[in-house]
Amino acid sequence: MRILAIETSCDETAMALVEASGGFKAPKFKIVKNLVSSQIEIHRPFGGVVPNIAKREHEKNLPILLGQIFNNPKTEQKLWKKIDLIVVTASGPGLEPALWAGIGFVKKLAKEKRKPVVGASHLEGHLYSFLLPTKKTTGVNVKTALPAVTLSVSGGHTFLIYMKTLKEWKKIGETRDDAVGEAFDKVARMLGLPYPGGPELERLASLGNPNAIRFPRPMINKKGFDFSFSGLKTSVLYYLRDNPKVNKADVAASFQQAAIDTLVKKTIDASKTLPGIRSMVLCGGVAANKLLRKTLAKEAKALGLKFFVPDFKYNTDNATMIAAAAYFGTLRNKKYRLVARGNPNI
Ligand code: KG4
Ligand code: ZN
Repeated sequence: MRILAIETSCDETAMALVEASGGFKAPKFKIVKNLVSSQIEIHRPFGGVVPNIAKREHEKNLPILLGQIFNNPKTEQKLWKKIDLIVVTASGPGLEPALWAGIGFVKKLAKEKRKPVVGASHLEGHLYSFLLPTKKTTGVNVKTALPAVTLSVSGGHTFLIYMKTLKEWKKIGETRDDAVGEAFDKVARMLGLPYPGGPELERLASLGNPNAIRFPRPMINKKGFDFSFSGLKTSVLYYLRDNPKVNKADVAASFQQAAIDTLVKKTIDASKTLPGIRSMVLCGGVAANKLLRKTLAKEAKALGLKFFVPDFKYNTDNATMIAAAAYFGTLRNKKYRLVARGNPNI
């Protein structure tokens, strides 16, 4: 199945052309094109994503990306003939004005090209992103990888998921307040770092001592798999207020360590509690964090589990993962309406 996928849930305009095959048993994704146009520079002066500006930029970028997909006008017609499905992110986490930009664009495009069009879930995109080819592998052997515990972490959500099969998964834990990426972004802002905060904070943390300050690890010893990050964020705020001369790199490193300790502890607990776990999977924008990747990989190994994380370009927002979500959605007959819904469907 050849899929043209469009993703506009936040501040990246993304488009991909993907060939999906193999079904649920042996899924394979051949990525013909994976394009991302970032709006970071535009939102930076505002310290965060401005939904209506994101929408306007998506509307501007989408026709440009479409042109890059079909970069040769001579072969455009031929390529269109081979496309079976158009998909757009419709369900979140995402900003509704931004989602509408993608939806409006594909509706017109599908009509013009007379192609079927479906909506997809951004969250499902992240959950399936571990199946995409990496620099080292062509994909994942699903038979030996599942069931898995999936830690899905972004600026809009923090979920622990029991993925029994590619069709059957359920949320077993989530954040009770801020998403972990949101906490990274807010603490980064307190430290005077530019947007987007997560990667900037990680960079600063690499210069500091993670044991310099003992920040709280909320809910770490509580039963169950829920998280909370707002107390941690507030304690960083008070610490900075009371210690204005502190080394900021130490604050960044100590905050990062506290957040990661909590994520990792709950993922380990879940992998020991849930039946038949074979792997740990990490996905979502915060999966770009090297310390988190390294720590989870090490813990998985210690428990005799496999560990999967997408390549960097597929853990932050991209359209290839949306093509994967649409492929499985079609096989399951689960289609999302072309209506923007900011909250994840889970
Ligand atoms: O999945 P994503 O690209 O967009 C959403 O769906 O939210 O995730 C973006 C989030 C932001 O909060 C960003 O700060 C965080 O992921 N992030 C990171 C890192 N890179 C991105 N957080 C910590 N460390 C990083 N290296
Ligand atoms: Zn995302």
